[in-house]
Amino acid sequence: MSIQKIYQYPEPVLRKETEIITAFDEKLAHLVEEMVETMYDAPGVGLAAPQIGQSLKLIVVDTSRDSEEDQQQQQHMVIINPQIIKHEGSQVDEEGCLSVPELTAKVNRHKKITVTYQDLTGKEHELTTEDRFAVVLQHEIDHLNGILFIDHLSPLKRSLYKKKVKKWLKG
Ligand code: NI
Repeated sequence: MSIQKIYQYPEPVLRKETEIITAFDEKLAHLVEEMVETMYDAPGVGLAAPQIGQSLKLIVVDTSRDSEEDQQQQQHMVIINPQIIKHEGSQVDEEGCLSVPELTAKVNRHKKITVTYQDLTGKEHELTTEDRFAVVLQHEIDHLNGILFIDHLSPLKRSLYKKKVKKWLKG
């Protein structure tokens, strides 16, 4: 196991459409371990495979509760080949991304979603969730389609951020 490099905007791998996972094998389990370790090290609440340069439909999310007694125990979920099959309502919440440094912004998302996905053994699941966890899932699922949260911002905000990044890259 080792902590992986997190790719940042404008790396092209973040913009690629990802591949469906069909082999639920040792290699996949190893990749998941690396992603979990990388997510907790960052630290982040979720990580999608393209963020470590793997163009696959795979995300890990932190589901540890915030209360102090639970802090010792890190819990996470592995979500493979997810699809949002139902959504309702809308909500606006502050988002950031390990691949989009130095920026947080309010993003409009569905309030409640139903997602189908597979776990590490290939077993199929259906999950309905709302509020903050629904935001995290929508953000991570976007990554699997080459979408970053800056794509949901106004053209003006987005171009300001792009200019800032260009300046950093030059500097
Ligand atoms: Ni992100």
